[in-house]
Amino acid sequence: MRARCRTLGRDILLVVLGFVSCLVLIHSFYAVKNSDCAPQKVVRESSHESVDVSKENKEPLKEDLSPTVKATIGTTQEPVRLSTASISKKVKRPKYVKDEFHLRDPIFVGVVTAVDFLDSRAMAVNNTWAKNAPKVEYFAALEPGKTHSLPVISLPGVDDTYPPQKKVYRMLRYMHDNYIDKYNWFMRADDDAYVRIPRLIEFLSQFDPSAELYIGSPGFGRENDLERIKLFQHEHYCMGGPGVIFSRGLLIKLVPHLEECLKNVVVSWNEDLEVGRCISRRLNIQCTWAHEMRNLFYMDYTKGAVFKNPAIYRDKTFASLLTIHPFKSTDMMYRIHQFFLELELKKLDKERKQISKDLENVQRVTERKKAFP
Ligand SMILES: *[C@@H]1O[C@H](CO)[C@@H](O)[C@H](O)[C@H]1NC(C)=O
Repeated sequence: MRARCRTLGRDILLVVLGFVSCLVLIHSFYAVKNSDCAPQKVVRESSHESVDVSKENKEPLKEDLSPTVKATIGTTQEPVRLSTASISKKVKRPKYVKDEFHLRDPIFVGVVTAVDFLDSRAMAVNNTWAKNAPKVEYFAALEPGKTHSLPVISLPGVDDTYPPQKKVYRMLRYMHDNYIDKYNWFMRADDDAYVRIPRLIEFLSQFDPSAELYIGSPGFGRENDLERIKLFQHEHYCMGGPGVIFSRGLLIKLVPHLEECLKNVVVSWNEDLEVGRCISRRLNIQCTWAHEMRNLFYMDYTKGAVFKNPAIYRDKTFASLLTIHPFKSTDMMYRIHQFFLELELKKLDKERKQISKDLENVQRVTERKKAFP
């Protein structure tokens, strides 16, 4: 009986001990859990706090923040700051990302032409490479009241005399005044130049259009001509023929100087050189001059003889050109367009074959002819 009682006492003691240790365990478990929760608690508290603060300052906050929010939307790509103001009905939520970040189309092209060439050269441009450009306008001096089936811009006070000194200066101003917030790059192109727009856009996408960039094939003037054209050593300009690209940033800086330059610094009658001098002397900016530029913005000095050589169409450098100038006939313009279309088709064919191969491989894994019914 005694022995039984003793074992019973021991059992009770064990149960009590077990119970106590359970309590300790549960307690420590909750302690750990609470410490895990601690940051959450702080967050909740702080969010409560911020709500309280905004409640207290509701009126002044609205007044203070709505102008900043507007300014942010109007100028930069910063997201609207989260605040009670963003809940205000005054702020309009953009529908598309394009609107939110104020994205601009890549390029505006101004084709320098004349009334006499509208139905030939300008029409060939329209029917070939201009199709790929977001926007092309043709600059020629139509008589007042006359129109043309192409989008022709007749600038006030500008005639069709050659060289188109005034035309180009005023065209740059026109581009700025009408399109500076719509495009990143502005191109001056001749009506006898061929431009591979998709490749050009890809090329330009490497650069920041808000920087002041003056891009094209560099011209230095002939050695025996330097006295007349008065360029400094190493001073150069972008040759007009193969096309000149002005970044949006450059155009903004250049426009206030254009009329002065047109009046005062005209030394030669080479308008491309004079635009270059204006940019060089007023803004201290030079045309791109890497050797490669001459192979991208291509000037044909052979008067078309180069295109009679079949080898050129197999040349890698030729296949990677961005612009070619000049074409003395519209027939040549159409033919070169045909050539580049054939090239493009070959490239797409190659891509199609690669995708077919990839598809066959994955079909072998899924064992299905179609991914989904
Ligand atoms: C210019 O090209 C566009 C696009 O190919 C075409 O629709 C239009 O008719 C052309 N304009 C003229 C005047 O031929």
